[in-house]
Amino acid sequence: MNRRLGVLISGRGSNLQALIDAIAERRLDASIALVISSRADAAGLERARAAGIEAICVPHRAFATRDDYDRALVKELRARDVGLVCLAGFMRLVGAPLIEAFPNRILNIHPSLLPAFPGLDAQTQAIEHGVKVSGATVHLVTAELDGGPIVVQRAVPVMPGDTAETLAARILEQEHRAYPEAVQMVLDGGWRVEGRRLVPADPPA
Ligand code: GAR
Repeated sequence: MNRRLGVLISGRGSNLQALIDAIAERRLDASIALVISSRADAAGLERARAAGIEAICVPHRAFATRDDYDRALVKELRARDVGLVCLAGFMRLVGAPLIEAFPNRILNIHPSLLPAFPGLDAQTQAIEHGVKVSGATVHLVTAELDGGPIVVQRAVPVMPGDTAETLAARILEQEHRAYPEAVQMVLDGGWRVEGRRLVPADPPA
């Protein structure tokens, strides 16, 4: 599989940094061809540039519709020959033009054990629900919000007295391990999608 990554961010970019570090430490056999932020003030843009990676802002406000925005992202990603797209704190819904351009080639990281607590503020949802375990999920992106086939999950305990912030910090540590691992798995192949599951590919006959 084409090992050139396109990483989409909207903010801090600590998961982007985890991918940059994993590549530098050779735990992840890939390269980052492009970082795109939906926001000009995203700290992740500086992280990318500090690592010598091309980083651009594509602001959604510049486009009339979400599909137009997605098409602009596809154009930038294709221009760099990106093979796998990694959403890393990208706070925009991705629609059909992007998903169809990269079928089963878009990953997302989410701060809960999906299918629990999809959408925004997953850590607050977990605290408010009173769950005793939460975690991080890396999954393939489909049209269903946070509903695509799961690639890697890592669990953390929810402690008495946790706030959304303390839980988020505990989950984030696991996110930083889970994302490079999931990207490596997907790039290595040997899997296929069956229904909502990622399963080992059929052995050659
Ligand atoms: C991460 O916790 C990520 O799981 C979450 O945003 C944070 C981004 O942090 N993503 C979502 O909630 C997506 N629904 P980062 O910018 O430091 O990687």
